Amino acid sequence: MAIFHHNLFFTSFLIFCKILEVYSRGPVYTPPDVERLTDRFSRLSVNQSYNVSFGGSNVHVTNNGTSVDLSLDKSSGSGLVSKNKFYYGFFSASIKLPAGFTSGVVVAYYLSNANVFPHNHDEIDIELLGHEKRRDWVLQTNIYGNGSVSTGREEKFYLWFDPTQSFHDYSILWNNHHILFLVDNIPVREVIHNNAISTAYPSKPMSVYTTIWDGSEWATHGGKYPVDYQFAPFLISMTGIEMEGCISNQKNIAPSCSRRSLTSLDPIDGEQFAKLSSKQSTGLEWARRKHMFYSYCQDKNRYKVLPPECNV
Ligand SMILES: *[C@@H]1O[C@H](CO)[C@@H](O)[C@H](O)[C@H]1NC(C)=O
Ligand SMILES: *[C@@H]1O[C@H](CO)[C@@H](O)[C@H](O)[C@H]1NC(C)=O
Ligand SMILES: *[C@@H]1O[C@H](CO)[C@@H](O)[C@H](O)[C@H]1NC(C)=O
Ligand SMILES: *[C@@H]1O[C@H](CO)[C@@H](O)[C@H](O)[C@H]1NC(C)=O
Repeated sequence: MAIFHHNLFFTSFLIFCKILEVYSRGPVYTPPDVERLTDRFSRLSVNQSYNVSFGGSNVHVTNNGTSVDLSLDKSSGSGLVSKNKFYYGFFSASIKLPAGFTSGVVVAYYLSNANVFPHNHDEIDIELLGHEKRRDWVLQTNIYGNGSVSTGREEKFYLWFDPTQSFHDYSILWNNHHILFLVDNIPVREVIHNNAISTAYPSKPMSVYTTIWDGSEWATHGGKYPVDYQFAPFLISMTGIEMEGCISNQKNIAPSCSRRSLTSLDPIDGEQFAKLSSKQSTGLEWARRKHMFYSYCQDKNRYKVLPPECNV
């Protein structure tokens, strides 16, 4: 009898612990199996791929040049810009985010040409937004094409893992067929290059940026929670740098560019990069159904008339 009670108590205790675990960490998700695009391209060293763009004293190259730490403290954020400009390609980085209290902190992995085309720039954004509670980083995606800044095309997701515990891959595929945002190779968003989006589709060479900065004004609950420098420095580590595409360092709008011969691994014209595989479609559907919590296409308060691509 005593043993029975003991077991019952112990079992109840275990169940209780399990419930606590689910509450504190959220459910454990197993993402669908997808093609690992990030395994198909070579990883570049920090020096091969990037220059410092700002906050050089907060940039530290580590692991024999394969990794880099970027930090934000009271004095400055920091950022890198790619040595090359690209007209289409596959871009990826493995990033580990800072743990703890990170409200107002923005980590951005993005393509832009705002410095070359200040009035009609293009941009493809992955932004990781810090939160006032632990582990609740938000992933925001957005695009601008040819200066379409009056129309934000944001979509927001919760991640299905803790991005502060280990490195995860954040990737962008951009070609004439579509733009894909991927997290650990799972597509979370696809922007198909059709007539509806054509004027806002990024179509000029861009540089790749990785930055960490103070987004106190907007990043966390619309600016309700600014950066608290008591918890600084906020430090990210990046490794697994991939930039594979059409290098285009001239300023002209319809660029010619030097291409490596990539055969089937061509992220620009390769068949497997032109549309989603069935596994990738399943992954996309999974990510959006389970993890997306905001899409501009559903925001009728913001857009009385939704942008044309929303109705396709
Ligand atoms: C460090 O990098 C250099 C150049 O990329 C390479 O030749 C060398 O073998 C690396 N050293 C180690 C310990 O990995
Ligand atoms: C990278 O470049 C910087 C400056 O250009 C240099 O100081 C550093 O030694 C380089 N690191 C490696 C690993 O090549
Ligand atoms: C990167 O740094 C090198 C060496 O300082 C410089 O020559 C080059 O113009 C820089 N490129 C960019 C895109 O900033
Ligand atoms: C992009 O914007 C420029 C200047 O506003 C305009 O002249 C051009 O036609 C636009 N291009 C496209 C593809 O819409």
